[in-house]
Amino acid sequence: MKRILITGAAGFLGSHLCDRFIKEDYHVIAMDNLITGDLRNLEHLFKLENFEFYHHDVTNFVHIPGKLDYILHFASPASPIDYLKIPIQTLKVGALGTHNLLGLAKEKKARILIASTSEIYGDPLVHPQTEAYYGNVNTIGPRGVYDEAKRFMESITMAYHRFHGVETRIVRIFNTYGPRMRLNDGRVIPAFIGQALRGEDLTVFGDGSQTRSFCYVDDEIEGIYRLLLSDYSLPVNIGNPHEITIKDFAEEIVKLTGTDQKIIYKPLPKDDPMQRQPDISKAKALLGWEPKVSRADGMKMTYDYFKSLPDEELYKKDHKDFKSYNRK
Ligand SMILES: NC(=O)c1ccc[n+]([C@@H]2O[C@H](COP(=O)([O-])OP(=O)(O)OC[C@H]3O[C@@H](n4cnc5c(N)ncnc54)[C@H](O)[C@@H]3O)[C@@H](O)[C@H]2O)c1
Repeated sequence: MKRILITGAAGFLGSHLCDRFIKEDYHVIAMDNLITGDLRNLEHLFKLENFEFYHHDVTNFVHIPGKLDYILHFASPASPIDYLKIPIQTLKVGALGTHNLLGLAKEKKARILIASTSEIYGDPLVHPQTEAYYGNVNTIGPRGVYDEAKRFMESITMAYHRFHGVETRIVRIFNTYGPRMRLNDGRVIPAFIGQALRGEDLTVFGDGSQTRSFCYVDDEIEGIYRLLLSDYSLPVNIGNPHEITIKDFAEEIVKLTGTDQKIIYKPLPKDDPMQRQPDISKAKALLGWEPKVSRADGMKMTYDYFKSLPDEELYKKDHKDFKSYNRK
């Protein structure tokens, strides 16, 4: 049985990856410090013999007994609300955490895939973004802690590949959505759905002409799975190229939820990208991958998930008290 370590396993993408690799009959070693994750995302797996969980912060040395075939490094705060509140931890998990996991991959002769992001393109001046675009990032802006951590993560990963011959894979994930996102994590989709379910007006930042493209989680996981098993070590964009303006998207949510909320407008946060759309030609050619789930179907499944949550989740202000983490 192949053994895989998944960091950030109690989070949104990490928990879906655990499900996928369990389904493929792997022994899954899940690791998380629960800073933004939630064990409820994994509780259905705890009874399985081929699943184990380590409560561990990957910015500290990572030890795993026995052989390891693969490592998926997904630990990192991922939403602006999270990484603006825990900036130092965000930098540390991208830098020190990635260093620790590359060291583990080298020791175990395991293949490692790291979760990079479309944020490495910053507020892009090229549209849509191909992997060849170097990006337009403000290193010292508030979002720099996330964007630069991910850029460093890519650099150190390529250095381990070139210098130590570690088998590495880099996925550049574009906005992904689906069940198990946190309602209060500040990302567009849970924010809109949360507002609709609470009967509040939907908040659009700026004039709503900025665009996003949203990938349903099952499609994203399929792309990551194929990339891991491929023999390609340079970065690959995995995301859905169907672009929509935030204003049109807010209108779609009002229709989906059957509510009669108004859309209200607030100032755009600093360095918020105006356009986001992946060029996925590389993923198509190399992996035979493209997204299959339409936004209408994906949004319906996501809305049904959020609707099924207990009412108190709707009114939780913050997932965690981050104050104690900021001292670590
Ligand atoms: N969801 C997206 O749209 C998206 C887009 C681009 C990139 N990504 C990347 O994918 C990964 C997962 O994102 P997500 O949306 O599932 O976020 P998430 O917040 O749901 O999950 C991240 C997980 O990492 C854990 N974690 C954070 N720091 C840790 C540390 N030091 N040690 C151990 N565990 C730690 C958290 O507790 C959480 O469970 C992140 O690396 C993120 O940057 C996600």
